[in-house]
Amino acid sequence: MKILVINGPNLNLLGKRKPDMYGHRTPEEVEKFILKYFKEVELKFFQSNSEGEIIDQIQKADAAYDGIAINPGAFTHYSYAIRDAIESIRIPVAEVHLSNIAAREDFRHKSVIAPVCIGSVAGFGAYSYVIGIQALAHLIKRKSE
Ligand code: DQA
Repeated sequence: MKILVINGPNLNLLGKRKPDMYGHRTPEEVEKFILKYFKEVELKFFQSNSEGEIIDQIQKADAAYDGIAINPGAFTHYSYAIRDAIESIRIPVAEVHLSNIAAREDFRHKSVIAPVCIGSVAGFGAYSYVIGIQALAHLIKRKSE
């Protein structure tokens, strides 16, 4: 099983960017942390600060992966283009966030991405990715049985 993990804008700055909010791990350390939990799932990581590149990856993933876990960063709150891309593919998508977006500024309370995802996980730091990927893998496996 192959799952693509997509990280959106400013998530390349993990470790330096608001560590009290997003944690002290660098992007490489977050990847290592996630990989520890998955022996049978093949994970590939992609990060971009550009909306178009993220959309290209989502479109391409449909033919190459079984599912996507995405942290769209601030695009979560306003990118109808990323939402449309997710709505256009057949593979399931899980939304993940490091912080609890429901407990933050008002503009972060709304996710335009959530309604086109299988489910969302937020607030558990890097462990949000682990939960999201685990749930996604469970669902993909169940569907193939
Ligand atoms: C985030 C939450 C977003 O509101 C923010 O813009 C991010 C990170 C998170 O993982 O908590 O860039 O997606």
